[in-house]
Amino acid sequence: MTEENDIAWGVAMSAPQTEGAWNVDGRGSSIWDDFTQSKRKFSSRGTILDTANFYNHYKHDIHLLANQGIKHFRTSFSWSRILPNGKGKVNHKGLDFYKRLINTCLENNVEPWMTAYHWDLPSALEEKGGWRNRDIIHWFESYLEVLTTHFGDTVKNWMVLNEPLAFTGAGYFLGIHAPGKKGMSHFLPTVLHASLAQSTGINFIQSRCPEANVGTTFSMSPIDAYRLGARDRKAAQRVDAVLNRLFMEPLLGYGFPTDVMPVFNRLEHYMEDGDESLLMAKPNFIGIQNYTREVVKHAWYIPYVKAAMVSAKKRGKEFSAMGWEVYHKSLSKCIKRVHDLSPNINLVITENGLATEASKKEVELDDKQRIAFIKHHVEVVKNLKQEGLPIDGYFVWSWLDNFEWAEGFRPRFGLVHVDYETEKRQLKKSGEWYGNWCKNNSTSKVIV
Ligand code: NOJ
Repeated sequence: MTEENDIAWGVAMSAPQTEGAWNVDGRGSSIWDDFTQSKRKFSSRGTILDTANFYNHYKHDIHLLANQGIKHFRTSFSWSRILPNGKGKVNHKGLDFYKRLINTCLENNVEPWMTAYHWDLPSALEEKGGWRNRDIIHWFESYLEVLTTHFGDTVKNWMVLNEPLAFTGAGYFLGIHAPGKKGMSHFLPTVLHASLAQSTGINFIQSRCPEANVGTTFSMSPIDAYRLGARDRKAAQRVDAVLNRLFMEPLLGYGFPTDVMPVFNRLEHYMEDGDESLLMAKPNFIGIQNYTREVVKHAWYIPYVKAAMVSAKKRGKEFSAMGWEVYHKSLSKCIKRVHDLSPNINLVITENGLATEASKKEVELDDKQRIAFIKHHVEVVKNLKQEGLPIDGYFVWSWLDNFEWAEGFRPRFGLVHVDYETEKRQLKKSGEWYGNWCKNNSTSKVIV
């Protein structure tokens, strides 16, 4: 946590996207190991297994990060490194790794911010239905019990889930992420169970670590209609219900967004008595993850939302290597929206950043587009804080170049370049720039 009136300026990444070392020291496999190895398309993009090998380079990496001037570092625990079968027997070598990592952070005056779940479900649990099986709420709680037992003393900032819409929607509705399942019958139970895991997870960590700063994170993007007129406006409302409201509103007591997406009434079919109140919790902060906005038009042929995105390229706007529009008002709109919805909750921008194309190293290191993007957004955050909004932190995604899920290694988000052949790290111009920003704008001390 930071002192009052201060913003924790930090960087973020995740275990599955950076650690590598997937088959050492007793780690079990995860759905992302299986998914990337089973899909042929990934063979040209590399698999998650080839990533930056943070598991073996963590010490050097944390020194580099501390020397860069960064004092807040977000990453995630790997569930299958700690519980190779998802539940039951603990892997002590896995626990040891996170103990060493967290101690290295603290020794270097870097505060760890740890996410419990960043999409890498142990394969053994997926075999039992994964997020479709209601038992996941108990499996998840037992995992949190292990985490809080071993890290409750040293980790003060927790995030329960990373972007539940992404791992349920892309993983169990569109089938483009692990575990590659498609359709509403897979998606709906995962929505309910992830929502319940989110609230019970927050309550659980808060009860075990009453002093901790406990939040959970959401992807958010303002949704605009492509054309004037009711059809596109309504299409935008439906997309907004899915992208921005589906997981946040039940947590904050507003229920599922059935007003514009009646299909979510079908969630009742999976609900048990008492679930409605179980969905609610009082996190210490909401994590906002924003990169862009979406512009949508009515499209009768798309099931349920009846809407299609109109790409930034088609609209003639600047875009990143993900094809996402660089839209400068996006982050402030998201921040203000969550604040209006829930004025008493602190806000942390747990992800914001820009992907550039993999190219020649010299070109990648001189990343002016990323500097411009970050510069704009840190100013926005600083100004909103000065206006009185309860913003506690801002984290650039990502510190290291890493594995970008379905996109493989092509888009590079890092402030630090990774040569995947040699595993050598090199600070990009943006990394230098942001390190200086952190040094010049931070008065915080790590409070342990
Ligand atoms: C969302 C996810 O949390 C992260 O894993 C991903 O790499 C970035 N945003 C960029 O897409």
